Amino acid sequence: MGNIAVQSLKESRAIDPAQELALSVLEGLSGQPKSLPSKLFYDDKGSELFKKIMHLPEYYPTSCEAEILGQQGAEVAKALSGQKVNLIELGCGDGAKTILLLNHLLQNKVDLSFVPLDISRAAIDFLIENLKREYGEIPFDIQGLVSEYFGGLSWLTENQANRNLVLFLGSNIGNFNEPTAMRFLRHLWHSLNDGDLVLIGFDLKKDLDVMYNAYNDSQGVTKEFNLNVLDRINSVLGADFNRSNFQHQGLYDVKSGAMESYLIAQSRHTVMVEELGKEFQFLPWEPIHMEYSYKYLPVEISDLASSTGFEIVENFKDQKGYFIDSLWKVKK
Ligand code: AVJ
Repeated sequence: MGNIAVQSLKESRAIDPAQELALSVLEGLSGQPKSLPSKLFYDDKGSELFKKIMHLPEYYPTSCEAEILGQQGAEVAKALSGQKVNLIELGCGDGAKTILLLNHLLQNKVDLSFVPLDISRAAIDFLIENLKREYGEIPFDIQGLVSEYFGGLSWLTENQANRNLVLFLGSNIGNFNEPTAMRFLRHLWHSLNDGDLVLIGFDLKKDLDVMYNAYNDSQGVTKEFNLNVLDRINSVLGADFNRSNFQHQGLYDVKSGAMESYLIAQSRHTVMVEELGKEFQFLPWEPIHMEYSYKYLPVEISDLASSTGFEIVENFKDQKGYFIDSLWKVKK
């Protein structure tokens, strides 16, 4: 039975989480257009709602990636066969798909140490429960990190002895625009050793209706996921958002190549945020930008890899051709 530990990492200059939230809200709602950062989705309730999204019939990325990891994960595992490996997963969520890859790694006698990282403590606890259910006695060490992505990068910098495989699955990279994705990947490159591997999930550009339906599901779970951010601001910061004043829509922006989520005020009104001592004015039909989910072309994936110091080992695609898990090697 492996050791299990979970640790919360905080940025050294971090202030308390409610103040951090208040600052994000002040900055985002003072902008034009108004926006809120997508990391605010993932409080415990939001992580629960995202788990529901992953099971929606319209939300194809999860099932496509599960197919890839289940059917082609052995190819990734063979590259590491018999080695001692740190497996770091950035934004692990409930880890349901990760288990598919873990099984291939175990079958290929990879000597694993698993470092799942997520911004939500509940997500990591749930992942550990999932692993216990799968294995009974978990046959590797787990060092959970409750942190934003930077915590994973500094963990990597401090633990460079073993071969690393970094997982950044589920199209999490889609939340970054191109310059931010480059910055992040170059930072990751810097934290790794020559020959280390990275497996990144990219959602591909595809039929507009397929993408539209994935972000505007018929059960309204995605809408709920967005409105939960307003509830969170109400309860943590003493705000008075009225969720029935807002409509939700996900739209494909043809110029940015991203699905973008909005909450749209339906009438002129003001929202008071007690913690900030400040009111925000909404005009009728004024949007709050909630999220970017960038969609990729294969050529954009190769450009991103080569411009940040990685070599593509292999692109693993699902049968429908909707999604790519791209295996990259660090070149130093
Ligand atoms: C977790 C960022 C990959 O962008 O598809 C799902 C989040 N938002 N439905 C995505 C999300 C609305 C998801 N990521």
